[in-house]
Amino acid sequence: MDLVLRALLANQGKFISGAQIAEMVDLSRTAVWKRVQSLIENGYGIDCIKKKGYRLHTLPKDRLIPEKLSLLCSHPLEFFYKPEIDSTNLWAKEVMVRYSESSLFFTDKQYAGKGRLGRQWESAPGKDIAFSLGLRMNTDVCHYYQYTVLMALAVRNILASSLQNEVKIKWPNDIYINNKKICGILTEMITEENRLKTLIIGVGININSEPKLPQATSMKMVSGQEYDRHIILSEILNTFFKMREIMDTYGFSTLYEDWKKHLMGLFQSVRIDTGKYIVEGTLEDVNEQGIAVIRNGDHVEHVYSGDLFVS
Ligand code: BTN
Repeated sequence: MDLVLRALLANQGKFISGAQIAEMVDLSRTAVWKRVQSLIENGYGIDCIKKKGYRLHTLPKDRLIPEKLSLLCSHPLEFFYKPEIDSTNLWAKEVMVRYSESSLFFTDKQYAGKGRLGRQWESAPGKDIAFSLGLRMNTDVCHYYQYTVLMALAVRNILASSLQNEVKIKWPNDIYINNKKICGILTEMITEENRLKTLIIGVGININSEPKLPQATSMKMVSGQEYDRHIILSEILNTFFKMREIMDTYGFSTLYEDWKKHLMGLFQSVRIDTGKYIVEGTLEDVNEQGIAVIRNGDHVEHVYSGDLFVS
C-alpha cells in the first residue's frame, strides 16, 4: 500500500503540506516529493504549490486504486491488487493456503476468469469488477452456501439501490436485471477433514462495459451512466461484512428469508438443466444448503447444480 497516495486520497481536493505527509507516513520531505513526482508520471493529477503543499485532483482513469478502496472499506481487510491476472479465484487459492487474514484479491484485467460448471467468465478490462474474497474460517462444510447467499444478497442490494431497478437472484447464485445476467458468483472452498478452512467467494459484475451477449447486461446498460467501481465494490463489501455480523449474532434465518424474497422463479414452473438431464416442475424451495427442491406432482426432486430457466 502506498501511504503517500493514501494520505493524498484522504485529503483529496484539499492541500496538504509535504511536512504533514512526511510525518504521517514517516518519510523525509524529499522522499515524499519523489513519491509525488512518480505518482504524477503514473497519471495522477497533483498540484504542487510552494508553501501550500500537494493537492490531488484527478485519478488515472479506468484503473482500480487499492489505496482508495481501502479508505472506503469499513472492515479490516488485506488488499491484493494486480493490474492483470488469469483468475482472482486461482490467485486467492494460492495465497490463502499460507495466509490467515481475510483478504481481497482484485484486478483490472482478468484474462482467464472461471465461471461455474467449468465455463469461462469474461470481464471488460478497466470497466468491470472481478474480485475474490478470501475468508479463513473453521466451520462445518455445510455452512458454505450461507456465505454465497450473503454475497449474492449484498450485491443484489447495492445494485438495486444504485440503479433503482428490480434486481433478482437466480439459483444458485446469479444476479439478474430485466431477465439478463449482470453478475456471477463462484464460491470455492478449501477443506480439511470435513471442516471448511478457507472460503473463496469470486464475484464478477458488469459495471461500465456493454456486453455483446444478448443474455447479459451491465449497470451502464441499465441506467446509461458510468459508475465509480471503488464505490460499488466497497459498498458491497461493507454490506457483506455487516450481514456476516448479523448472521454471527442472530443466526442465518432472517437473511435467508430476505434472499428468498428476491429469488427468481420461486413457486413457479421451472426447468433445470443439470448438464446430464433436465428436471421440470415447480421450484418449491432452495434449502439452506443451496439445494433446489423441485416438485412435479407427487414427485419431489433435489437438484444440486445446474442452470435454471423459468418457464
Ligand atoms: C458464473 O456465473 O459462472 C460465475 C462467474 C464468477 C466470475 C468471478 S470473476 C472473479 C472471480 N475469479 C474468477 O476466475 N471467477 C470469479
